[in-house]
Amino acid sequence: MASFNILLLPGDGIGPEVMTEVEKVLGFLQQAGVARFETERDLVGGAAHDAHGVAITDAAMERAKAADAVLFGAVGGPKWDKVAYEVRPEAGLLRLRKDLGLFANIRPAICYPALADASSLKREVVEGLDIVIVRELTGGVYFGEPKEIVTLESGQKRAVDTQVYTTGEIDRIARVAFDLARTRRSKVSSAEKMNVMRTGVLWREVVTAVGKDYPGVELEHVLADNCAMQLVRWPKQYDVLVTDNLFGDILSDIAAMLTGSLGMLPSASLGAEDAKTGKRKALYEPVHGSAPDIAGQGLANPIAMIGSVGMALRYSFGLGEAADMLDKAIANVLASGLRTRDIAAKGANTVSTSQMGDAIVGELKALA
Ligand code: IPM
Ligand code: MG
Repeated sequence: MASFNILLLPGDGIGPEVMTEVEKVLGFLQQAGVARFETERDLVGGAAHDAHGVAITDAAMERAKAADAVLFGAVGGPKWDKVAYEVRPEAGLLRLRKDLGLFANIRPAICYPALADASSLKREVVEGLDIVIVRELTGGVYFGEPKEIVTLESGQKRAVDTQVYTTGEIDRIARVAFDLARTRRSKVSSAEKMNVMRTGVLWREVVTAVGKDYPGVELEHVLADNCAMQLVRWPKQYDVLVTDNLFGDILSDIAAMLTGSLGMLPSASLGAEDAKTGKRKALYEPVHGSAPDIAGQGLANPIAMIGSVGMALRYSFGLGEAADMLDKAIANVLASGLRTRDIAAKGANTVSTSQMGDAIVGELKALA
């Protein structure tokens, strides 16, 4: 039986609760003979800050580099609002992305039929929605230098963030989008702001050039602000949406809400393929945050985190069939009417985080 090393980084807030449900799912898959999963746990974010004074330790980074995949919960919360910028909880996640070279962030937004009414948009706008946002994750304004606040002679302060992209960075993320589109509806929409930003001009130029290598895939360019509007107007016009780090952050939150709840969306962050081994570094995380307001109460929806395991099965472990089975188990549980609070109609019965996890494992048992 194939064996995989997984580093679990639950983090803060609801992170540990939803990670507990992941352990149930992995435990079942192992028991069912799908593969062996060796898991280790470590701290990240505020939890790491409290224990070690940093958002992630060098030792945890080494474990992350050695793992076949990292499963990440969520980081941050008001408790750490005042800690130094360099060691704020989010810095742990950014270091993981940067040091593991996870440049390709894949964020599918699928609206399950059972949840079309949970979205704040009309049913006909979101029903059947199936799009993927491909977000560049290690460049742009998140990491560009200079990035600083300096005090001027006048006594005023001046803050700078730098939006920067090279041809190579745009080329490789564009290829991820086109490759993915080929396995889907063969359409790539690329979002930038070439009307005001030099990085947007280069982005459009490079994506257009890459598109020439994919004659079967339709390419369209859209200004990022218009794209935000189109996403809430008629999201089904998109298939694969490729964009930079900052626009991707914003557009993927919009896309998430189309599906009914932020608690539903998994994501994969992938590095480049190693030429020798064919392996790629990977981290899987829900799109939602740490939700400190509901942490520890069993109210969190574990589906985005469990769905992230599904993406790991598919993209890191070559276990597509198990991934399909897990997706089906989630869909069946939703179709049976089970709801955590975030996806329930007002006044309807709801289940807890662990009841939802147990139901998904139960459904897996029935399908296996
Ligand atoms: C996300 C999050 C992160 C980001 C934060 C937590 C640093 O919002 O993954 O979308 O801005 O990338
Ligand atoms: Mg975000």
